[in-house]
Amino acid sequence: GAPYLSRRDGRLQLEDVALDALAREFGTPLYVYSQAAMLGALASYQRGLAGRPHLVCYAMKANANLAVLQTFARAGCGFDIVSGGELQRVIAAGGDVGKVVFSGVGKTRAEMKLALEAGVRCFNVESEPELDALSEVAVSLGRVAPVSLRVNPDVDAGTHPYISTGLKGNKFGIAHQSAVEVYRHAASLPGLAVRGIDCHIGSQLTEVAPFLDALDRVLDLVEAIEAAGIPIHHLDLGGGLGITYTDETPPAADALLAALLARIDARGHGHRELVFEPGRSLVGNAGVLLTEVLYLKPGETKNFCIVDAAMNDLMRPAMYEAWMGIVPCVERADTEATTWDVVGPVCESGDWLGRDRALAVQPGDTLAIVSAGAYGMSMASNYNTRGRAAEVLVRGARADLVRERETAVQQFAGERLLRD
Ligand code: LLP
Repeated sequence: GAPYLSRRDGRLQLEDVALDALAREFGTPLYVYSQAAMLGALASYQRGLAGRPHLVCYAMKANANLAVLQTFARAGCGFDIVSGGELQRVIAAGGDVGKVVFSGVGKTRAEMKLALEAGVRCFNVESEPELDALSEVAVSLGRVAPVSLRVNPDVDAGTHPYISTGLKGNKFGIAHQSAVEVYRHAASLPGLAVRGIDCHIGSQLTEVAPFLDALDRVLDLVEAIEAAGIPIHHLDLGGGLGITYTDETPPAADALLAALLARIDARGHGHRELVFEPGRSLVGNAGVLLTEVLYLKPGETKNFCIVDAAMNDLMRPAMYEAWMGIVPCVERADTEATTWDVVGPVCESGDWLGRDRALAVQPGDTLAIVSAGAYGMSMASNYNTRGRAAEVLVRGARADLVRERETAVQQFAGERLLRD
């Protein structure tokens, strides 16, 4: 799962940096990312797409730290954004706005205006009223908005219901049956230029089959839309490729792409530009969350290992009952492994990071929650007025602080006391 994570002399390292040393230097909770792991994951996409017109748009919702974005921007990536705030991050990180695709079911007119003025590459539109609004905004600015329609292929991606998005019961995309009609409407609007088609069927997918099913349905639509006289330039096949958290065996990106390209070629669509929007598979295995053991609280039915990271730092277990690996940064020979529930300080029973984990730990030890580079920090909150964690980016033997730990004063800086 995470080839840049290794153990040397009993100490867990990310690239060439010992994680227990980082915890001492920067404090905990601390997110640490490996740049080589991110670039290695990207290279698999680039290999798979070599020789084709393509664009990898990193789905920055997975991890939007500016230094992470800078890393991908320098490697030639575009970005998949879902808000005006994300667009501002791309600009702040030195990314190329001309390589940005703007997804999401609820873009506001203000966000549309910002994105049109900045010159994003394409709007992935998810409903008919959104098309009308975008056309109006574009006309009012004297611009033309490049669009693709996100179609809902109605395939079961076989993932957690909260992160499955390609079934017709989901709020996402335009129903397969109405797609041609909606494309006709799009083509008739004065402020829009149809560029492509897009789909995204869910996240943490570990099989090739649902991707191929979705692709077939998208290609059926492309043929029908072009038969209706509307040319489609690019295919945006979304993101969704999963990573290994425990025993999942997702295909490598280049293997997935080989299967998709074979199908695209076989159906005579090999000339089209391809866009992908991977998030998790680019950053998930590149990051860990370091946390210190505060107290051990053995009990009659459960043993609790209370750590200084909590659901506000890493929501995935509380929100999806997601399993995240937890390992000590330094192995202990002097303590027996005991079964612990690893829990945080937040006042919720749902505040757990791992259940029934065999760990040999003592208070003061540092634990690493692994494969936490995606949807970790980006979903963090300030619940319980907990400052968000610091972030460090590792390159070889170097470790740079890329986000300071948030203070309480920063958290309430925008609040006001009543004046009377
Ligand atoms: N494109 C669109 C339109 C998306 O909605 C998403 C993710 C992606 C691309 C990137 O998908 P990825 O390659 O990362 O699977 N918070 C959840 C995951 C939510 C994914 C939302 N959409 C989690 O922690 O598992």
